[in-house]
Amino acid sequence: MGNVRAGILGTGHSYPEGILTNADLEKTVETSDEWITTRTGIKQRRKAAPGEYTSQFAVRAARQAIERAGLEPSDIDLILCATVTPDQILPSTGCLIQAELGAHRAAAMDVVAACSGFLYGLTLANTMVQTGQSRNALVIGAEILTQYVDYSDRQTCVLFGDGAGAAVLGPVEGDRGILATRIKSDGRYEEQLYSPGGGTRRPPSAETLASGDHFFKMKGNELFKVAVRSMADISREVLEQAGLTAEDVSLFIPHQANQRITDAVANKLNVDDARVYSNIAMHGNTSSASIPIALDECVEAGRIKKDDLILLASFGGGVTWGGVLMRW
Ligand code: UT7
Repeated sequence: MGNVRAGILGTGHSYPEGILTNADLEKTVETSDEWITTRTGIKQRRKAAPGEYTSQFAVRAARQAIERAGLEPSDIDLILCATVTPDQILPSTGCLIQAELGAHRAAAMDVVAACSGFLYGLTLANTMVQTGQSRNALVIGAEILTQYVDYSDRQTCVLFGDGAGAAVLGPVEGDRGILATRIKSDGRYEEQLYSPGGGTRRPPSAETLASGDHFFKMKGNELFKVAVRSMADISREVLEQAGLTAEDVSLFIPHQANQRITDAVANKLNVDDARVYSNIAMHGNTSSASIPIALDECVEAGRIKKDDLILLASFGGGVTWGGVLMRW
C-alpha cells in the first residue's frame, strides 16, 4: 500500500440566488427574528426557486473544485455525491453530475448519511486514493432541503437552507493531507430526524402527500444533546489517532446545525472562538453541503494556510457522525 496520503487539491461551492430571511418567516409562522437568532444563530438561508434541482448546484461547485485543483473532468475517476435530496431516485445524483461534467472515466454514486454525508464521502474517497484504486476523487455535498421543509412547522422551517460544496481529493507529498478519519452511526435514533413518506415503507400517494409524510420531522431538543456529545467525542478520537490535541488545531469547521451546538462543542474541546468557523447566520443548516461550503469559504477568505491543521466534525440524521483531521 505504500505511504500514499490523500489531500484536498481544490474546493468549490455554489448556492441558489434566492434568500429567505427571518423577517420573511415571521410573516408565515409564529416565530421571531429574536427567537431564531438567539436559539440558532441563523439570520437567513438560501432557497432554490421552483425548477431548480440539486445537481445543478453540485455541478457548479464541482467545476470550481476541479479547476482549482488544476485538473480536467476527465482526470476524475471517482465521484461521491452526499445528498438526502437527490434529483430523482434512479439513477444516482452522482451519475447525473458525472454526465453533466463529462467525467466519463469516473465511477459515480451517492452517499446517504444526512449531515455527515460529506465526511462519510471524504473518508471513503481517502481510502480509495490511499489504496491506489482512485487517483483523483471528487466528493460533493449537495442539498435542496427547502423542498422537504414543512413551512407550517416552526421548529424545522427556520433551520434549513440549500447549497452545494465540493472537494477534489488526490495523492499529496510529505506530511500534508488527511491524517485521520472516523465515521459512526446509530440507527436506533431513526425517528429523531426523518422523512417517513415516499419510500417503499410508505409509498408516495395522495394520502402521504396530504398528511405531509414526505417532510422532515425532528425532535430537535433530544438531538441537540446527542449532537454536542458525539461531535466532541469523535473530534477527540481523530486527534488522538493522529497523536495530536485540540491545542494543535488551527481551524475547526463543524457541521453548521446551530450556533449553540457549535459553541458547546468548541467549548468542550477547548478551542477558542478565533479558531472556529461559522457561517450559520448566512446559510442555516444545509446538511451534507454545510462543511464543504464552509471549507471553500475559508479557502477563498485566506483563512487556511499551508501546514494548518484543520478539524472537521459532523452530526446528522440516522443518526450519523464523523470526524476528519487534515494538514493543509
Ligand atoms: O443537522 C443535524 C441535526 N440537527 C440538529 O442537531 C438540530 C438540533 N436542535 C436544535 O438546533 C434546537 O433544538 C432547535 C433550534 C431545533 C430548537 O431549539 P431549542 O432551544 O431546543 O428549543 P425547544 O425545542 O426546546 O423549544 C423551546 C420553545 C418551545 O416553546 P415552549 O414549549 O417552551 O412554550 C417551542 O415551541 O421554543 C418554541 N419554538 C419556537 N418559538 C419561536 C420552537 N421553534 C420556534 C420558533 N420560533 N421557530
